[in-house]
Amino acid sequence: MRERIHELFKEIRNFNASTPSEVEEFRLKYLSRKGILSELFSEFRNVPNEQKKEVGALLNEMKDKVLEKVESMRSILESADRSTEPVPDLTRPVDQIIPGSRHPLSIVRNDIISIFSKIGFSVAENREIEDDWHNFTALNFPEEHPARDMQDTFFINKDPDILLRTHTSSVQIRTMEKTKPPIRMIFPGRVFRNEVISARAHCIFHQVEGLYVDKNVSFADLKQTLLFFAREMFGEKTQIRLRPSYFPFTEPSGEMDVSCNICGGEGCNICKYTGWLEILGCGMVDPNVLENCGIDSEEYTGFAFGMGIERIALLKYQVRDLRLFFENDLRFLKQFTGAF
Ligand code: PHE
Repeated sequence: MRERIHELFKEIRNFNASTPSEVEEFRLKYLSRKGILSELFSEFRNVPNEQKKEVGALLNEMKDKVLEKVESMRSILESADRSTEPVPDLTRPVDQIIPGSRHPLSIVRNDIISIFSKIGFSVAENREIEDDWHNFTALNFPEEHPARDMQDTFFINKDPDILLRTHTSSVQIRTMEKTKPPIRMIFPGRVFRNEVISARAHCIFHQVEGLYVDKNVSFADLKQTLLFFAREMFGEKTQIRLRPSYFPFTEPSGEMDVSCNICGGEGCNICKYTGWLEILGCGMVDPNVLENCGIDSEEYTGFAFGMGIERIALLKYQVRDLRLFFENDLRFLKQFTGAF
C-alpha cells in the first residue's frame, strides 16, 4: 500500500490541467465519495497496527496535497484567463490632456488685487443689480443732472429705479454705509453700459474700484498709491500724470495717464503719438458722499479711484480689439498660457 501511496504522490505532483473541468475531474478522482482517498481510507483497516501511524499520516498529507494542487491549478487558470483579454497597445500616443488656463481678464484682475494687497488694501465684491441711490444719488449725482447721461444705463425697472450698475463706485456706498473708517479696500466687478459694441467699447466690462477713507488722507496719498500701482503693473520706469477731470463723487477729480509702455514715451500708434495712455479716474471723495453714508466729513477724508480691467489688459498685452476678450476663441486665449 505504501508503494501505491508514493505512486499517487508522484501523480499529484505532476498533474497539470489546461481547463477548469480537468481540475474538477482531478478533484473528484481523489476526493469524491468513491474517489481514491476514500478507497485508501477503507483499506486502512487492513494496515498492520505498527504501520497505521505512518500510513495514516501519509493519507492525510495526500488529502492536503490534492487540495493544494486544486487551488493552485484554479488560480493559474484564472490568471491565464485574464491574460487572454486584449493587451493595451503601449506604443499608442496618449490622448492629449489640455489644461485650462486663466482668462486674460482674470489674470489682470488678480494682478491688480495682488498689487494693492501689498499696500494693505483688502478686497470685497458686491451686487451687480443696483438701485438708483447706490449707483447715482448717494454718489452725489443730482436728480435730472446730465452727469447721469455720462453712463448709458440699462434699467431693469423704472420708479423705483433698479438698474445694472454702471460702475463699481456703487460698492463705495455699500461699503461706507456698513463700515466705519479706516477703510482701505478695492472692489473688482462687472459693470454694464448701454454702449454700441466696438473695438474700444463693450456693454459689459470690468472695473476695479479703490477706496481709502481715514483721518488726514490727502491727494498726495492718492498720487503715491497710484504711482506705486502703475510701476508694479507696467514696469518701474513708468511715469504717471494726473489731469483735472470731473466726477460728481470726487472733488477734486482727476484722470491718470501712464507713460506708454510700448514706445517708452517716444510716441507710437497705441498712444496716438502722445506718449501717454489714460488708465483710470480718481479723486478725493466728495464730502457729500461721506455724509450720505453717515461718515463725518469734518473728521475723515478719503480718496477713490476706478479703472477698467479690459483697458489695462489691452495696454499690458497690446491687444487691439476689446471684443477678443469676450469671444473666448481658444487661439486667442492660448496665448496667455503657453500650456496648449
Ligand atoms: N466710476 C468712475 C467711472 O466709471 C471712475 C472713478 C472711480 C472716478 C472712483 C473717480 C473715483 O468712470
